[in-house]
Amino acid sequence: MPTVNSIPRSIHYLCDPPVQEYPALRDYFQVNRAVTDEVDDVLLPLREGALPPDLIGTLFRNGNGRHVHHGIVYDHPFDGDGMVVRLRFDGQTVRYRNRYVQTDEFRAENQAGRMLYRSFGTNLPGGLLANAFRMQFKNAANTSVVWHGDKLLALWEGGLPHHIDLDTLATLGRYDYDGVLQNSFSWLDRQISPELAFSAHPKIHPDTGVLHNFGTVADTRQRLVLYEVSPAGKARISQTIELARMTFSHDFVLTRSGHRIFFLTPVAFDMPRALAGLSSPAASIRVNRAEPTQVLVIDPAGVVHTLETDFGFVFHFVNGYQNPDGTLTVDGLLLDDYPDMAAMKNYMAGRMGDGAINARYVRYQIDLQNNTVTRQPLAEYEGELPQHHPDLTGQPYRYAWSIGRPVTSPRPLFDHIVKIDAQTGGGQHRCDLNTVPGEPIVVPRPGATAEDDAWLLYLCFDAPSRTTDLLITDAADLSTVARLQLPHNIPLGFHGTWVG
Ligand SMILES: [Fe+2]
Repeated sequence: MPTVNSIPRSIHYLCDPPVQEYPALRDYFQVNRAVTDEVDDVLLPLREGALPPDLIGTLFRNGNGRHVHHGIVYDHPFDGDGMVVRLRFDGQTVRYRNRYVQTDEFRAENQAGRMLYRSFGTNLPGGLLANAFRMQFKNAANTSVVWHGDKLLALWEGGLPHHIDLDTLATLGRYDYDGVLQNSFSWLDRQISPELAFSAHPKIHPDTGVLHNFGTVADTRQRLVLYEVSPAGKARISQTIELARMTFSHDFVLTRSGHRIFFLTPVAFDMPRALAGLSSPAASIRVNRAEPTQVLVIDPAGVVHTLETDFGFVFHFVNGYQNPDGTLTVDGLLLDDYPDMAAMKNYMAGRMGDGAINARYVRYQIDLQNNTVTRQPLAEYEGELPQHHPDLTGQPYRYAWSIGRPVTSPRPLFDHIVKIDAQTGGGQHRCDLNTVPGEPIVVPRPGATAEDDAWLLYLCFDAPSRTTDLLITDAADLSTVARLQLPHNIPLGFHGTWVG
């Protein structure tokens, strides 16, 4: 086992730090500096603790490598160019490699030396003339990464996945599952959307190994397309559901019983405005707060049940399952409102927290017999990027981990790692002053029987050194196991996966 080399530069608390010790929020914003270098399997120096010899495998992460492109700062944090990160653990060392996803758009813009495409939240410079009727948007390939069917894919919910070489992280190309993701609805539909979207939150069924995913497609009709990919990597469209209105859906729940659950919030894109180039698609979103959120349940037989709950927006679900009495439990992180462009622009300008709204842990109970949805608080925490034990997808579970904060925390920033107990409503948290953590991936210890006998693996921006650390903490008590230093900072990203 490597020796302990303790150089702690941040102070960590397993409680709320004293308010007077908080640094200014602006000190954190260096986290989003663009990554300009790509490195090959660099050995990471150990800053604290010791690497567990039985932690062997690979952590992949995806997220924005850069928020600035040829001098232009994107208006929205979802627009940054995707960069895949790989951390290989052999029990003695961790080796790090990073590569931007070489999408067609990324290559073309680099070759031209200027921005050529509109993004979800950013128009081209040049106003109306430059943007009107330009409907080819950049595939940012920045949201997640999945390993399934012997393939590593970088995911983005607005378009096709990208196939990534496992060894080199080179981009092998756009991936349409042998044509399954080509739009075959009608000639006119194909002209509007030649390819179908494949979301960044697929779920793998715990018994069958089948990957379930969805795409929302807006062409002549608004459609929710459901996909299934066999463990061998063969994909099919399992069902297409026509929706009455436009919607926006980022994540869904797959239960072990085979129910697929979507929360369709009454937000809509003002398509004429976006088409005309007057605003980006994100800025053209119109929120209908007076309307309820639609809960769509597709049961194992494919029957679609439509229910309603109060207005709200759920980016991420924690987990969900069927109860012995047939009802469904869905845990999620609920926003009271949809985050508007002003809050996004504040964030991109370094005013982190200004106008931000935070999602809180809630539990929904869905009764298909009586057509009811009820909601209650799940824990006294706010959070995002939640994770659960990887073997408990779609099943009753006790613990979840995420970035977040206790509701009593004096600042709006998600600068804590939290562990919630879904059975008791309690939880624990850890705050490392001067740092900003990312999504904690749960890696069970080999042979573990307890649900929280696991490690949490996450990237954490360290403001004093302006670099990002890899943190390994104990999932049970959130104590430090090891901290290693990356050769540069990584902007706050989205999702990752562990391949054992
Ligand atoms: Fe997400």
